[in-house]
Amino acid sequence: MSANGVCMFDRKHNCVVVVGAQWGDEGKGKLVDVLAEQADVVVRYQGGANAGHTVVVGDRQFVLHQIPSGILHGGATCVVGNGVVLDPETFFAELDELGTQGIDISGRLFVSDRAHVVLPYHKLLDQASEQQQQIGTTGRGIGPTYEDKIGRRGVRVADLCRGSSARELLTDRLARANAMLGMMGSARRADLDEHLELAERLGARLRPLARDTGLLVHTALRESRRVLLEGAQGALLDVDHGTYPFVTSSSTTAGGAAIGAGIGPTEIDGVLGVVKAYTTRVGNGPLPTEADGVMEGRLRELGGEFGATTGRPRRCGWFDATVVRYSVRVNGLTGLAVTKLDVLDTLESIPVGISYRIDGDVCEEVPSDVELLDRVQPVYETLPGWQASTAGARKLADLPPQARAYLDRLQDLAGAPIRYVSVGTRRDQIIEV
Ligand code: IMP
Repeated sequence: MSANGVCMFDRKHNCVVVVGAQWGDEGKGKLVDVLAEQADVVVRYQGGANAGHTVVVGDRQFVLHQIPSGILHGGATCVVGNGVVLDPETFFAELDELGTQGIDISGRLFVSDRAHVVLPYHKLLDQASEQQQQIGTTGRGIGPTYEDKIGRRGVRVADLCRGSSARELLTDRLARANAMLGMMGSARRADLDEHLELAERLGARLRPLARDTGLLVHTALRESRRVLLEGAQGALLDVDHGTYPFVTSSSTTAGGAAIGAGIGPTEIDGVLGVVKAYTTRVGNGPLPTEADGVMEGRLRELGGEFGATTGRPRRCGWFDATVVRYSVRVNGLTGLAVTKLDVLDTLESIPVGISYRIDGDVCEEVPSDVELLDRVQPVYETLPGWQASTAGARKLADLPPQARAYLDRLQDLAGAPIRYVSVGTRRDQIIEV
């Protein structure tokens, strides 16, 4: 049991995954920060600098993009797993920034030597691709790096660490990237000297951090140490299960945790899905329960809904139970954490999307065809608001009855037990159910 009463790991649960169960930005950073207090090892296992995990400690706010949120706890060993696409330039900028803020990482941050690296040419390709496809990516080079990985023409951390022999590899990769840029109609070209300089400078910094992190995690579990696997983005952005093609390029669902951390799936004991008490999305693609203009603006303002990575305003809407039920299924969620309940404190009434209608027929699943999902009409149930502050609640009994009824209804509709409720940005603003 931790100081704030939140207990997650126990004798039977040494390896727990935290995933986003909507479209990302659910507040995973805060949950991971709170739970990391009990963890020995915290692993980021997919995505890259597209993520922005915001953590508030006292009066300081940290936005972590690639370094696991567990880094803010001195006791946790932090790992960037093989499934991450690592942008070394921004990774070290983030690390240096943490150093200036007094966070000591020496001897407790490791990077998988199998992780692929995002290089400047990947960002040029991402931007050129956006001109054609308009997914609304973060522009961080994520898609092109995963494409190269799957296409067996990537550059891995181990390659950068190898020093001079990276030249041959990079010469080959840049020739191809520049040819691609030409075919995509872009006038921009990647510069070999810039890449060679970056590889030499950052390869040297990566070398002491790089290792077989799958072995590190495996060994920790054999020694009964507690491992928290920290997901990025959300289930509806998963390359297989999300609103394809309006998705990111990794497996954001819990299945990706084993692969991206380098352990077997049988090691995982529990999966916590983080959901907002409403819904948001950044970028393009369907969002069935998107609120109308005025209400969307109100939710955005109340929730401070602007992207932590790009600053873009997030699209906002009501809790979509069909989406969360789907997420429970594709992630095998064993529990839910509902965040930002306090954002709804002033509302008189709160619609909840319970199912969809497509061409008049009721639909209780998320259609795989994105055009169909774009056309669904949500079926709403409206619940009374509580119009009282929940920010000071530390146990369920502190919440107004309407807020408890709201949570009960979300839990029933989603089909998974609520384990945590977050009522503010601070570490202590959490209720264990
Ligand atoms: P990419 O991951 O930059 O390729 O972007 C693909 C889609 O995922 C876009 O709609 C992005 O807005 C979205 N996305 C990527 N990372 C995040 C995140 O951390 N939170 C929310 N949306 C994200």
